[in-house]
Amino acid sequence: MTTPNTDELFQSTYDRVAARYDDLWSRHVQTPNDRLTRGLGLRRGERVADLACGSGAATLPMMRLNAPGETVAVDPSAGMLHLAREAAASEGLALSAIQAKAEDFIAAAPAASFDVLSMRFALAYLDWHSVLPAMGRLVRSGGRVGVLTSLATSAPQALTIYHRIAESMEMEINEPPTPKNIGIVEELLARGGLRIDDSWQHGFRLWFGSGVEATRWLLDTGYVTHPALKGLEGEVLDGLVELFGAHLDGEFREDDGLPLDFFVTGIIARRP
Ligand SMILES: C[S@@+](CC[C@H](N)C(=O)[O-])C[C@H]1O[C@@H](n2cnc3c(N)ncnc32)[C@H](O)[C@@H]1O
Repeated sequence: MTTPNTDELFQSTYDRVAARYDDLWSRHVQTPNDRLTRGLGLRRGERVADLACGSGAATLPMMRLNAPGETVAVDPSAGMLHLAREAAASEGLALSAIQAKAEDFIAAAPAASFDVLSMRFALAYLDWHSVLPAMGRLVRSGGRVGVLTSLATSAPQALTIYHRIAESMEMEINEPPTPKNIGIVEELLARGGLRIDDSWQHGFRLWFGSGVEATRWLLDTGYVTHPALKGLEGEVLDGLVELFGAHLDGEFREDDGLPLDFFVTGIIARRP
């Protein structure tokens, strides 16, 4: 439901949502985040980069393991980066925070300059077909790369309604911006000279009070960032949220509320 050419929209979304991001999203993905961090096998003194670090929800647990090694946190959103910096400072940890897109950081970083790279929940916002193969160059021999991402199969309820509304309005339908399956991510990482050590899937269901509440959450978290939403606000946006929410309720409402199902995949790759 996104395309990679909507940079400004992503950045403004994340600057706006920064303060509420951990409550809206991070707490729901603690389990897969912890599993990826464990899989990276971090050691004291190692040099780590967390690309698209966001609020630092996953950066901090890594820093606790590699300190006093340097951790570089990269994100184009000033609001998110500020939170990551503050979180590290509150634990007395020194974070090297860089405001940049992952693509630019990867292109500029020297080869084999990191022991560990992590990139979590960011593939929807960048051209992962070129970014994933480029990651291997940055890690030294024995270095690890961890990728955590939602899959295109995630939030099928929202996808169904998006297709229905787009077809009824004769709008162009954008396919989900995340990979369809783990195999695609594995293959692209391997192209960068990495060997896949481990990969797994994790599913979870979130419940909302109504379709409108679920739709607002999808927008507020940045989970859905369609180019057609750019610049929409006030009554027009509210109308769209009402319409989408009513369709969600009509099709998927259960006794306990409105469910959205999420499927994420974690991959650990290593440079031999
Ligand atoms: C869904 S959040 C994930 C944040 C963090 N990795 C986590 O798991 O909590 C996506 C993050 O990607 C960042 N982002 C968007 N476009 C990016 C790009 N081209 N390169 C790096 N980060 C990007 C956003 O600013 C946002 O902080």
